[in-house]
Amino acid sequence: MRQRFLLLSAVAACAASVVIGLVPGSTAPARAQANAPTADMAEMRRGMELMQKQMALMTPDLVEKANALSPQIKQFLMKVALKHPRQSDRLTLRQVMQEILADYQAVGAAIAVDNGELAADAARRIANHRLPRGGMLPYLPIEMVTTQALSVLPAMEDAVEGGARQLAAAAEKGDMVAAAQHFGTVTSGCVACHAHFRGQPGTSPRLRAP
Ligand code: HEC
Repeated sequence: MRQRFLLLSAVAACAASVVIGLVPGSTAPARAQANAPTADMAEMRRGMELMQKQMALMTPDLVEKANALSPQIKQFLMKVALKHPRQSDRLTLRQVMQEILADYQAVGAAIAVDNGELAADAARRIANHRLPRGGMLPYLPIEMVTTQALSVLPAMEDAVEGGARQLAAAAEKGDMVAAAQHFGTVTSGCVACHAHFRGQPGTSPRLRAP
């Protein structure tokens, strides 16, 4: 019941923004006016199915926190699920991050040695990274699953994924100076998200406070 409520409110928000033309991802003026709502509705249905799949894996306490999120955040999470077709049934967020780190290091090395094609491919893999089992929410501290704490996500996604796509385009053109600058933007996204959601990893309760 609650699950249904979450999905419906996300859809309502989505439909409203379709009507007033505010869906951030759908800036495709070339698309025929008449087809746009139909295509968006189909996409929305697919997004709802993906969200439903994620929700089905969550414990009731997390489902409750997810339901309480604002329609904007729900819509954002749905868009993330739609944009990332590589979705693992087994991997945790940490394991996804390990893959992102491997690609990130490949990008850095490729820029340093002026290998534009390697940099571009690895940067696109970052932008199109895998999603972990159940999406991102299950891996955050539960007190961070709030509209306020999650409101930073779009900016971080923009830095990492937007930055990675721009990096790829620049590297492909052979402009490694611009690629290096975008690499800085990507890095700032990694740093900001870790500072916000994670803190110092691997601390031990068997050590005295510093
Ligand atoms: C949307 C937020 C977010 C962004 C952006 C982000 N990370 Fe993470 N990252 C996390 C969280 C949360 C964890 C902790 C996951 C856990 O411990 O379950 C993490 C953990 C990691 C880890 C630790 C893995 C381990 O084995 O403990 C690595 C490495 C990592 N991230 C790399 C990166 C890199 C590189 C980038 C940028 C290209 C990046 N991350 C961007 C949220 C983010």
